[in-house]
Amino acid sequence: MDKFLIRGGNVLNGSVRISGAKNAVLPLLAATILTDEPITITNVPNLKDVNTLIKLIAGLGVTISYEGDTVKVDTSTLQNQFAPYELVKTMRASILVLGPLLARYGQAKVSLPGGCAIGSRPVDQHLKAMEALGAEIEVEAGYVHAKVNGRLKGGEVVFDMVTVGGTENILMAAVLADGITTIRNAAREPEITDLVNMLNKMGAKITGIDTDTLVVTGVEQLHGCEHAVVADRIETGSYLAAAAITGGKVRTTHTDPDLMEAVLDKFEEMGAEVTRGDDWIELDMLGKRPKAVSFRTLPHPEFPTDMQAQLMAVNAIGRGFATVSETIFENRFMHVPELCRMGANIQVEGNDAVITGVEKLQGAPVMATDLRASFSLVIAALAAEGETVVDRIYHIDRGYENIVTKLQALGADIQRIKGE
Ligand code: UD1
Repeated sequence: MDKFLIRGGNVLNGSVRISGAKNAVLPLLAATILTDEPITITNVPNLKDVNTLIKLIAGLGVTISYEGDTVKVDTSTLQNQFAPYELVKTMRASILVLGPLLARYGQAKVSLPGGCAIGSRPVDQHLKAMEALGAEIEVEAGYVHAKVNGRLKGGEVVFDMVTVGGTENILMAAVLADGITTIRNAAREPEITDLVNMLNKMGAKITGIDTDTLVVTGVEQLHGCEHAVVADRIETGSYLAAAAITGGKVRTTHTDPDLMEAVLDKFEEMGAEVTRGDDWIELDMLGKRPKAVSFRTLPHPEFPTDMQAQLMAVNAIGRGFATVSETIFENRFMHVPELCRMGANIQVEGNDAVITGVEKLQGAPVMATDLRASFSLVIAALAAEGETVVDRIYHIDRGYENIVTKLQALGADIQRIKGE
């Protein structure tokens, strides 16, 4: 297993180009199943999760090529509607092929995603929504069997909680349904907006964009299109956090400041100078130690759960103390014991963490536990005294394109040590 060897103490400085969003490209790839005309997606990040979904879609018989940052998909060769456990278990977002397969072919057999380290993460809301559109769903031997006679029928979908994947899945099912579907309590994440934009380019009729009520008027068929993936707001925030924790100055380019106001507000509250341009954001910590800031994770446009671990790491060396509440996932503090191994002072009670900032962290051997938690350990190591080895970094390869090159270009002392 590969590891990172990081020597802390360097102040990060410079500019970093942000990649396309992992959480946007996955539903966009799934949406290609909705038409038999070719689709070209650009600004695709080269990530393990993207490759997993490409493998899954290719396994359906789809012709798919991936060169540079461009994926070309031709689903006219699709032969089956089966997503096997071996692929789905490695990535929960694989469930996103359920809606498109069902809508276009009237049937799908998709493995249930395995339990995930950051909580049980069921898919009950996805299945309930499909049933509201007339699908017959059976869960048997770890597989979801979904079918419908003819087309799905437009209907009323009310989610019990805000679910990003659930909203995406039902959107992709509803676009080819017969009649109008109203989706209430819909997620409003920018990645949903990106999906809606691509579906509308393909000929779908979706209104209510950026609100929690989406109205879909079903059409009989969709056509091909070309689409560029929206910038990764979480990667952007992660590099800004790296600047904040090292007292540095970093400009993120090819990004969008409008997608992450809640996070930028927190950086400003920490004492950083944040400057925004049309497609860039610069954070200057002015060589200061950040002030610890309290926050609560909530669905967009509030503070995203995917930035919780990184800001927790910055808080660990902050001035004063802060409380962080995680309201989206029940087990998303696994980075805390690892940060504590590096000298952080963090107490967890249920879904709340109280952080008392310490002046310095110390390098230590630590273990990555999930994608965003991994980045928090990397930036903690960048700010720590001495050497840190971060183990199990396969988590980070799922979601951060060229992380070593990007951090090195900013002045970080980080190396990948190849494992067996
Ligand atoms: C997506 C993101 C992930 C992010 C999360 C919340 C992708 C590929 N992943 O994950 O990075 O952290 O949104 O912003 O886009 N839930 C249920 N039943 C369901 C569906 C969800 O109980 O059927 C619960 C989940 O367990 C969780 C909460 O709802 O507690 C939110 O989950 P959801 O928004 O669906 O997350 P994902 O789409 O899996």
